[in-house]
Amino acid sequence: MPMNVLFLAPNYPPEMQDFTRGLAEVGARVYGIGDSPIGGLVPKVQRSLAGYRQGRLHDREDTLRAAASFNVKFDRIECLWEPFVELAADLREVFGVPGMSLDTATGFRDKELMKQRVEAAGLRVPHHARANTADEVRAAAARIGFPIIVKPIAGAGSADTFRCDDAASLEAALQKTQHVKEVSVEEFVDGDEFTFDTVCIDGVPAFTNVAWYRPRPLIARTNEWISPQVVVLRNPEQAELAGGVKLGLSVLKALQMGSGFTHMEWYRKANGEVVFGEIGARSAGGHLVDQMNYANDIDLFREWARAVVWKSFEARVIRRFNVAIVFKRAQGQGRITRIEGLDRFMMRCGRHVATEQLLRPGTRRRDWKQTLVSDGFVVIRHPDLASTLEMADDFATNVQMFAE
Ligand SMILES: Nc1ncnc2c1ncn2[C@@H]1O[C@H](COP(=O)(O)OP(=O)(O)O)[C@@H](O)[C@H]1O
Ligand SMILES: [Mg+2]
Repeated sequence: MPMNVLFLAPNYPPEMQDFTRGLAEVGARVYGIGDSPIGGLVPKVQRSLAGYRQGRLHDREDTLRAAASFNVKFDRIECLWEPFVELAADLREVFGVPGMSLDTATGFRDKELMKQRVEAAGLRVPHHARANTADEVRAAAARIGFPIIVKPIAGAGSADTFRCDDAASLEAALQKTQHVKEVSVEEFVDGDEFTFDTVCIDGVPAFTNVAWYRPRPLIARTNEWISPQVVVLRNPEQAELAGGVKLGLSVLKALQMGSGFTHMEWYRKANGEVVFGEIGARSAGGHLVDQMNYANDIDLFREWARAVVWKSFEARVIRRFNVAIVFKRAQGQGRITRIEGLDRFMMRCGRHVATEQLLRPGTRRRDWKQTLVSDGFVVIRHPDLASTLEMADDFATNVQMFAE
């Protein structure tokens, strides 16, 4: 019996192309709906799809019509792109397809509901409140106490997220978030920030991963000169991470995870206390899936597909490497004019570089606030963590890009 899978957004963002490929590789008949015109599908996606409709994913009725037009009984409906994870759940209910319900999906998307459910399970979340008006934000700040974080209820990529240390900085943040409908107000949790990523089968992780943000995403996103790093840690079972992993496993239960990818963020305070950050029922962006693959020499695009289609996971997770990604931002505006220090870096560390994808001279700079990948990146891997960090810092410090 062929398995018919409807996969929303099969071509964009770019990492979806490999998930589409993975679905085809495990034997599914893959149907796609996305915003790209059919001619804009990359060959890998074209080859993997049994059918495609260009639709408007932000328009529910349009997407329902497009899905019905395939005239196929779907066995799975999946989406790994954050803004449409709830839409996939909605469609599952409409078409009577097994998988995560809309209510459960909303718990992975609405940052207040998420924290309420995690908190109800007895787990530590930042003190928090939902606010729709400036006065509600001020009242929440008074109750929680400075410093606080103000951020969109359904945000991504640290957009419109502000740390406020006092009433004056809160007023400034209120000015800047006027266009955001609903915000989450939180206690500011100081400390290190990590991910906890899984591929689950019926709520049980078949694969787990912990990555460390250097520095924390909000800091990386507010300082252009920083070369942000994300480091997949070879050994997620080490004692220093045990609290976060335990929290993560409990969160999956509290939010009733089913089958698929999850991407959680958590904080570890100086006193060792671990605090929940957020979670999505989707894969991480910013090439973190590639990093997890490089750490283990596996293909999680395909194993995710196997998990959701067949409820099985076959890759052997060998944990050979720590894997650091370092993103670069060019100095200056316009087009990249030159890259300095790359040749010498490659002479020093080239044999530990898994991939190097800096934009080349002549290319227009990306908007560093809009993209996680900045003006390109390098991926470094090494069995030893100290060596990995040393090379990542070497790249961050000694490789420079310029634009004019
Ligand atoms: N309560 C908090 N305490 C400290 N830092 C926070 C808090 N909430 C968010 N941040 C910072 O802002 C970043 C973005 O917030 P997050 O909730 O992860 O939203 P998203 O990643 O969806 O934009 C986090 O990675 C973290 O660095
Ligand atoms: Mg986040």
